[in-house]
Formats: sequence, C-alpha cells, structure tokens
Amino acid sequence: MLEPFQILKSEWENISLGIQKAKHDYHSFVLSTISSNGPDSRTVILRAVDKDKPAIWFHSDKRSKKILHLKKNKNVSALFYDKSRKIQLRINGLAHIEDNIKNNKRIWESMRPESKICYMGPYAPSQRINQFEPNILEKSAHDLNEEDENLGLSRFCRIGIKIKKIDWLKLDYKGHQRLEFEFGKEIKVQWIAS
Ligand SMILES: Cc1cc2nc3c(=O)[nH]c(=O)nc-3n(C[C@H](O)[C@H](O)[C@H](O)COP(=O)(O)O)c2cc1C
Repeated sequence: MLEPFQILKSEWENISLGIQKAKHDYHSFVLSTISSNGPDSRTVILRAVDKDKPAIWFHSDKRSKKILHLKKNKNVSALFYDKSRKIQLRINGLAHIEDNIKNNKRIWESMRPESKICYMGPYAPSQRINQFEPNILEKSAHDLNEEDENLGLSRFCRIGIKIKKIDWLKLDYKGHQRLEFEFGKEIKVQWIAS
C-alpha cells in the first residue's frame, strides 16, 4: 500500500490529467453549493489546479444560480469519482470569484469559439422560459464579432476553490481505504474508517 503523501501526489497528477484529457473521470466534478433552500449540486468542468495553494478552478456564467449562492455562502463541496481506479475524492473548500480582468481576458482569448458561444445566449442559466428555445446565438461559433466577444466576456467568470479538506476513498474488496487530508499551514493526514 502506498503511504499517504504518495497517494496525495498521485491524486494531484490525476487531477492534472483530468484537465488535459476529456476522457479522464476527473475532467468533470459535482459542485455543491448552499442555497437558502438547502444544498444544490451540478456538474462542472475542471479547468485548473494548483497543488501548492491547494486550489482548483472551473468556469461559469456570472448570471448563474451557483454564483448567487457563492456570493452568500463560500462553502462548497467538489465531488470526483474515478471509476477506473475506484477512487472518490470529496473536497471541501471556500469558493471565490476571480476578478482579475486581465487574467480573465487572457483565459477567454485562449478558449475555443464553441465554448465562448455558450456565454452569449439571451437567457441567464436557470431562467424560466415559456417553451424550449436554444439559449445560444443564432450564428455559427466561427462568425463571432467584437460585440459578441465583449458580451460573452462580460458574463464569463472563473471560480477558484481553495481546498480545506480532501476525503480520499479507494474501493477495495480487501477493505476500502480512506484517508483525510486537511490543508492548513501544514498538511494533516489521518486514516479513517470506510
Ligand atoms: C458534462 C457537463 C459539464 C458542465 N460544465 C459546466 C461548467 O464547467 N460550468 C458551468 O457553469 N456549468 C456547467 N454545466 C452545466 C451545469 O451543470 C448547470 O446545469 C448550469 O451551470 C446551471 O447551474 P446553476 O443554475 O446551478 O448555476 C455542465 C453540465 C454538464 C452535464
């Protein structure tokens, strides 16, 4: 069996692979926020990681419900499951909406037009509509003009999750293995029962 810090190193490597490879199970995760009505969960795509902070990032539309939740309560959970390795990561952290305009613009400019167009629809995500209507621009992603780009960028945001805790679980028929990593000035590691 690997020792805890080797396990953690391997998880950071897999998280990085998840960013690069769409087929990796860590490419997306379930983000849970707290609304006034209780917990709310949805899938988002993992975009960046910094194992030294430690933190992970995803992208979203500023108008979405999750952003309203985060403005009231920064506490979030990020849930990952890698089916091939039978590993679950339950991450607890504090979310922050990045407001570095230059950095956001740099990231926006590196995005594919097909990703950018998702931020240009007429309706806010989760807004009620009378009947189905595609919430996208009525033009090809390859015909975006400056006005479209500016509209999309004005709605685009990057959310960072400063990781407080990772609950690592590896399913094993000989006995599931479970570890808790707590991130403060130093990393505290604790085996826990599964
Ligand atoms: C595979 C998949 C990936 C998704 N990725 C994102 C994402 O990176 N960011 C995002 O805001 N929504 C993403 N969504 C849509 C969200 O799950 C959700 O429906 C939407 O953001 C509205 O959520 P909210 O109203 O709770 O904010 C994704 C959905 C799926 C199924």
